[in-house]
Amino acid sequence: MTKTYQIGVIPGDGTGPEVIAEGLKVLTAVTEKSSVTCKFTHYDLGGERYLKTGEILPDAVIQELGRLDAIYLGAIGHPDVKPGILEKGILLNLRFSLDLYINLRPVKLYPGIDTPLKDKGPEHIDFDVVRENTEGLYAGSGGFMKKNTPDEIAIQESINTRKGVERCIRYAFEYCRRKNRKRKLTLCGKTNVLTYAFDLWQRVFQEVGEAYPDIEKDYAHVDAICMWMVKNPEWFDVIVTDNMFGDIITDLGAMIQGGMGIAAGGNINPQGTAIFEPIGGSAPKYTGKNMINPLAAIMAGQMMLNHLGETQSADLVEKAVMRVIQNDMKSMEAGKMGIGTREIGDKIVQYIQDE
Ligand code: IPM
Ligand code: MN
Repeated sequence: MTKTYQIGVIPGDGTGPEVIAEGLKVLTAVTEKSSVTCKFTHYDLGGERYLKTGEILPDAVIQELGRLDAIYLGAIGHPDVKPGILEKGILLNLRFSLDLYINLRPVKLYPGIDTPLKDKGPEHIDFDVVRENTEGLYAGSGGFMKKNTPDEIAIQESINTRKGVERCIRYAFEYCRRKNRKRKLTLCGKTNVLTYAFDLWQRVFQEVGEAYPDIEKDYAHVDAICMWMVKNPEWFDVIVTDNMFGDIITDLGAMIQGGMGIAAGGNINPQGTAIFEPIGGSAPKYTGKNMINPLAAIMAGQMMLNHLGETQSADLVEKAVMRVIQNDMKSMEAGKMGIGTREIGDKIVQYIQDE
């Protein structure tokens, strides 16, 4: 009997639908070669639906999504919707409601892609950031006093629970062991200033780390990490950090691996469902132009296959992506690729079928 995965698809806004279309082509091609199938159910969440109906993310839809094996997301963000509404209403709401407490973001430079880092190549840039995804400054704790007066106070608190920190750090150790590269886990914090939050992180890191004698433990402040990611990215294997620092350093990570055109990520509950997405935005100015790079979305699909345990299919997709980078693409940047969005998808499908 063939196994069927229930996958929710949220193409979203801007160029989201275009890149997801290529990703679905690739997922279909690769699963046709395996003993599994994916049943895709589409959801029209995003700016268009909000502008038409006022609906952002109904509770019934959250529950439905929570029962799926995985969710494949394009991009959320619409130029006609005030910033914050869709981000909080859809992205953050899903992360919190489905308790997707890990945000996993690989930083890997593939051969044939230019990095802005001088003298660095694929042998130097291959690490993962495990970002805590449900707490920290993103928890929404705080408020205003005397708003819109000269005495106004705005407070935004970082929430760090022992349980939340521990499950994130444990995942990072397990992930580091599974990846089996340098077997080194770096905690990224700011213990010299944020002496409560990162004191907790550091104690939990040491406690949990005792069960992982095979993993080297390392610590660096977030500002220093930004420096080392540029100067010595080869030092890193897996980096674990809180929500805000993880948000910031993964944009830097995306740039050193060749840009938003290739950077993918997963929002994961290891015991539940997960959302895989290209980490760049909806890039509305490229909508409908066949110009946007679909590789980030395709690699998000590749991460989804890995997460579902379909590692052979995931490897096939990665190999095909590496071939298209080497053979067919001039750049990772929209408009400079020398090949169209759809044509990249077609090539990858061809390479998968040729295997
Ligand atoms: C990301 C994005 C989101 C975040 C925004 C859109 C809310 O930047 O996925 O990294 O800050 O987490
Ligand atoms: Mn971000």
